[in-house]
Amino acid sequence: MRRVIFLCGFLAVVLLAVFLVQPLGSAAALPPAQGGDLVRGAMLYDNWIALLDVTPPEGNMPLWDTQTTSTRSGADTWRCVSCHGWDYRGKDGAFSSGSNYTGFPGLFNKDAPLSAETINAALTGKGNPQHDFSAYLDAASQADLALFIQSGLTDDAQFIDLVSRKVIGGDQTKGKELYDGSCSSCHGADGQTLIFRYDSRDTSLGTLAITDPWRFLHKTRFGTPGTEMTIGYDLGWSAQDGRDVLLYAQTFPSGLEDSQPQPALSGRPTGEVVVGGPPKNTLSGILTGLGAMIIGLGWNLLIFGFLIGLILLLVWLIRSRKAS
Ligand code: HEC
Ligand code: HEC
Repeated sequence: MRRVIFLCGFLAVVLLAVFLVQPLGSAAALPPAQGGDLVRGAMLYDNWIALLDVTPPEGNMPLWDTQTTSTRSGADTWRCVSCHGWDYRGKDGAFSSGSNYTGFPGLFNKDAPLSAETINAALTGKGNPQHDFSAYLDAASQADLALFIQSGLTDDAQFIDLVSRKVIGGDQTKGKELYDGSCSSCHGADGQTLIFRYDSRDTSLGTLAITDPWRFLHKTRFGTPGTEMTIGYDLGWSAQDGRDVLLYAQTFPSGLEDSQPQPALSGRPTGEVVVGGPPKNTLSGILTGLGAMIIGLGWNLLIFGFLIGLILLLVWLIRSRKAS
């Protein structure tokens, strides 16, 4: 009798170990980020609906309705950029106030880029079921997004004045050289040739460069989904090259020459910018880790419980047989 109980206990421990280790194993088996396409990831981040040429999901992204400050609705609410920002800093960056404010976190952390596991967990809804994109983005797209988030985000915070939105430092002559070489053929020497839609308004490069330099930079570096635009990243442009072109574009006619600083940034808190990312304090780090583990274990725990039940039933059967 004792041996049976010992055997069952041993089995239970082995099973527990197997189920605890399994989620870690599956995370480690993620496709290596290096194999992906960073520019494609950046375009997916901008507008995966346009890039994949798919019908947008019905209604608003579920998480969108947890905020009330932005009045956007529909397809736009499913774009990564609508929540996490053109500067990738979410509520801690350019979206910290104004009509784009949502309170959603950023993805940028200078000290420790998000891990592939964290990104995968976010995109498959393991951390928060309302953030599940797996019905829309296949493994390849998720890997491209992960590669972009891990190695494509640029920190432009020290290079753009938060009030005037002008580029700080920078080389305008170099910017003109690059622009005339690669951009003016479509946009015109003064950026006025091509008019596009921005915030439901007709806009030219000069206006965008002043009103939303972060969007300008992302588009310059990674293009615009659905167009054949030249892509700075493919030309081998550095982060500073992009800023130089932005600086030059800020001299184009914009119709905004006399305007006051945009109210969208007036309420921005000064002082240290806290970016999203892994929690800084150890205790909350452990708690977050445990939380993620428990959520990840959900199914496994259920199966585990079922197996324990089965073993107990066996023990009870054997015991009742011996007793009779
Ligand atoms: C409607 C707003 C919204 C959209 C759209 C959205 N996210 Fe998020 N995202 C969030 C929120 C809110 C969180 C925090 C979720 C939580 O932990 O509960 C988050 C968390 C994340 C995280 C984890 C961050 C961390 O520090 O752990 C990643 C990575 C991420 N999102 C990437 C993306 C990508 C890529 C897309 C586009 C495919 C996207 N998000 C679209 C709101 C959004
Ligand atoms: C082959 C033509 C072409 C070239 C070359 C080109 N663009 Fe564009 N660009 C476009 C088109 C078309 C759009 C408009 C997309 C739209 O209608 O939304 C655009 C839009 C943009 C936008 C704004 C996108 C938005 O919606 O906010 C920026 C910024 C931009 N281009 C910068 C550049 C820069 C910088 C270069 C040089 C590296 C460049 N473009 C080269 C075709 C081009």
